[in-house]
Amino acid sequence: MRILVVGGSNGNVAGALSRLGAPDFRIEAHGRPQVDLADPVSLRKAIEDARPFVVICAGAYTAVDTAESEADIAMEINGGGPGALARACVDADVPLIHLSTDYVFSGRKAGAYVESDPTEPINVYGRTKLEGERGVIAAGSRHVILRISGVYAPRGKNFVRTMLRLAKTREEIGVVDDQFGHPTYAPHLAQAMVAIARRLAEDSKAPTGVFHMTGQGEICTWRTFAEAIFELSAERGGPFAIVKPIATEEYPTPARRPANSVLDCSRVAAAYGVTLPAWRESLACCIDAIAAEGWDVD
Ligand SMILES: NC(=O)c1ccc[n+]([C@@H]2O[C@H](COP(=O)([O-])OP(=O)(O)OC[C@H]3O[C@@H](n4cnc5c(N)ncnc54)[C@H](OP(=O)(O)O)[C@@H]3O)[C@@H](O)[C@H]2O)c1
Repeated sequence: MRILVVGGSNGNVAGALSRLGAPDFRIEAHGRPQVDLADPVSLRKAIEDARPFVVICAGAYTAVDTAESEADIAMEINGGGPGALARACVDADVPLIHLSTDYVFSGRKAGAYVESDPTEPINVYGRTKLEGERGVIAAGSRHVILRISGVYAPRGKNFVRTMLRLAKTREEIGVVDDQFGHPTYAPHLAQAMVAIARRLAEDSKAPTGVFHMTGQGEICTWRTFAEAIFELSAERGGPFAIVKPIATEEYPTPARRPANSVLDCSRVAAAYGVTLPAWRESLACCIDAIAAEGWDVD
């Protein structure tokens, strides 16, 4: 089974996908400049060349704060790209797995978000990602849209690596303690995505639509998550810092973030039998992998 990943191999998820291996599938990851979500012709060509069984869209404009001042570029990539890719998938008769985000919600709901909850993005990035979801749905492709949250991996730009890097030079780090969610470990997500890709390739009646998929376990804040990072790191001889809980107002950013990012993942579990491990378990795998590479987080 051939899987085409749009987004190159540097990203958290695209990188994790391209490092997966098994005898029964081959992953081809392509990114800019050859395959660009802002260039529909390049997307069609990539599908023609790779002749994949399934396409995965793991590329995106992900600079949440910069998006506030680069709305046009972010909208072109996140809003227009997925729809163009989905239309190319329709023409090639190939299913598409597309990644979206918890940031399509306002974060004002009291409990976990289900897929049918009304969307209401509170920042530019969230608006562009919602537009991308709509483009995929409007194209009429066989699609699985996975909304994920708080992605981290042993490589790439992510919160875990940022915390470990900061701890090399700081004794104490202030971390936001009033935004709630479930972090998602890219290598475990990648395995689950391949399981979904297999079903889509083999079963023309495999479930389609929007699904939520994040790490499981107890709900955490960025502060709880940071404390767990340093605990696991210190146990393995890595960087450690004291975590000082702070409120969102004490860490002003150009883009507002939803306070509640908790996504109910039961729909994907029922449809595809996939549930990601508890985030503490996944985090230990991530810290092990970073330790094995000599704490190279710069
Ligand atoms: N990170 C999170 O916490 C998070 C949370 C929820 C949802 N998501 C979604 O999950 C997906 C994967 O996120 P991630 O954390 O893996 O992102 P990431 O680490 O920032 O990687 C994004 C990748 O997209 C590529 N890319 C950017 N612009 C592109 C374009 N025009 N055409 C093709 N590729 C392009 C980048 O490649 P170059 O810049 O090197 O070209 C990069 O490799 C995205 O759809 C994101 O919106 C992420």
